[in-house]
Amino acid sequence: MKAGEKQAAAKGSGKDAAGMGFSALGFRRRLGMWYRANARALPWRGVNDPYATWLSEIMLQQTRVATVIDRYQEFLRRFPTIHDLAVANEEDVLALWSGLGYYRRARTLLRGAQFVEREMEGKLPRSLAKLRTLPGVGEYTAAAIASIAFGESVAVLDGNVERVLLRVLGLPEQKGAKARARLVEVAQRLVPAGRRSATEGNAPGNHNQAMMELGALICVPRQPLCPECPVMEMCRTQGEHATGTRARMQSRTVSYLLALRKRGVATEVLLERRAAEASQMAGMLELPGLPPAAVQGREPVLRLRHAITNTNYYVQVFSEGVLSDGGPAGAALLEKITAMKTDLTWVATSKLGQQPLTGLARKALQRLNLMALPRVTIELQGD
Ligand code: ADE
Repeated sequence: MKAGEKQAAAKGSGKDAAGMGFSALGFRRRLGMWYRANARALPWRGVNDPYATWLSEIMLQQTRVATVIDRYQEFLRRFPTIHDLAVANEEDVLALWSGLGYYRRARTLLRGAQFVEREMEGKLPRSLAKLRTLPGVGEYTAAAIASIAFGESVAVLDGNVERVLLRVLGLPEQKGAKARARLVEVAQRLVPAGRRSATEGNAPGNHNQAMMELGALICVPRQPLCPECPVMEMCRTQGEHATGTRARMQSRTVSYLLALRKRGVATEVLLERRAAEASQMAGMLELPGLPPAAVQGREPVLRLRHAITNTNYYVQVFSEGVLSDGGPAGAALLEKITAMKTDLTWVATSKLGQQPLTGLARKALQRLNLMALPRVTIELQGD
C-alpha cells in the first residue's frame, strides 16, 4: 500500500496507525458530539461564502474572537463581496481594520482580493495548494479556508489545536521542525476524510472548528476544564502540560499631544501620519507623539494602558485646551510639535470613524469622548 492509501485506510477504520494511543474515529465522534452541543454561534459559522471565511480567518490570525465579531460584521457590511473589496481604496480598508492591529493583514487582504479579481475571475480557488498562492495566505489560513469553505480534508494547526494535541499526546511544549511534524501528522490523522456530505455536512471544516473550539473553551492554557472535556479519557495529561518559559512583559511610557481647535461648528483634532516606510502601522494616523522632556511637570488629561504582544504601554495624553482661530500662540506643546513634525493633519472629530487610526489612537480618542463608541447591535425579539 502507498503512504496515502495507508493513511486513508487508517482514517476509515479509526485504527491507531500513528501510535497516538487511541482511535481517531472515537476521538472524532466524541469531539463532534460535543461541538454540536456546545459550539458558540459565531457570525462566520454556517455561512456559505468562501470570501467571508477568508475574511474571518485573516481577522482571527492574531486577534481574539470577541474583538473580531463586530469588526467582521462591519467589514462585510461595507465590502460584501470580493469585488467590492478589490475596488476599495486602502484608506477605507485600513479604517475598518482599526482596533484589530497587525495592519499588514488588511493590506494583503486587499491585494489578495485584487489578485482574485484579476487572475481568478473573482472566485477564490477551492484547494489548499491554490489558496496558498494568495498574498497573506499561509499554510494555516489556507487549511482553514480549504476545509471550512470547501470541505477539503486538511488539518488546521493553530495555537489552540497545538495545545490540545500536546496534552492529549502527553508531550511537553517543544520547538523545532520534528516536533511540529509529529503534531501535523496526528492532526491530519484526526481530520475526517472527504468533502461535504448531505448527512454529515462539512465534516472536515466542522472537525477543525471543533478542535479550535475545544482549545478555546475547555483545553485553555491555564486551569483547563478537564471534567467537561469530551476526550478526557483519551488524554494522557489531563491538566496543564509542561510549557517553555513565557516571554516577560516589557513596560514603556509614551506621551501624546491632544490638540483641538474649532472650525465653525466643527471640532478638529491634530493627528500625525506614520511614515509610509514604518515597519508597523505604516501610513496610519495617531495622536502626535511627545518627547519625555516636553511633558515634565505636566499633568496628563488621560492615562491608559495598552498592551501589544509583550509590551505594556503606559500612555499619557497631554492637552492645552481648545485653541482659538489665532493658531498655536501660547500653546507650547503644539508649537514644539509643529516645529518637529511634517506629517500633521487636522481632522474633524465627526470624521474620525472613517480614518485609518491606530488601535491606540482610537482607544484614546474614544476615552476622551471625541469619537463614537463602536457600534453595538441590539436585536429586538419579536419586533
Ligand atoms: N480561530 C481561527 N479560526 C477560527 C474559527 N473558525 N473559529 C473560532 N476560532 C478561530
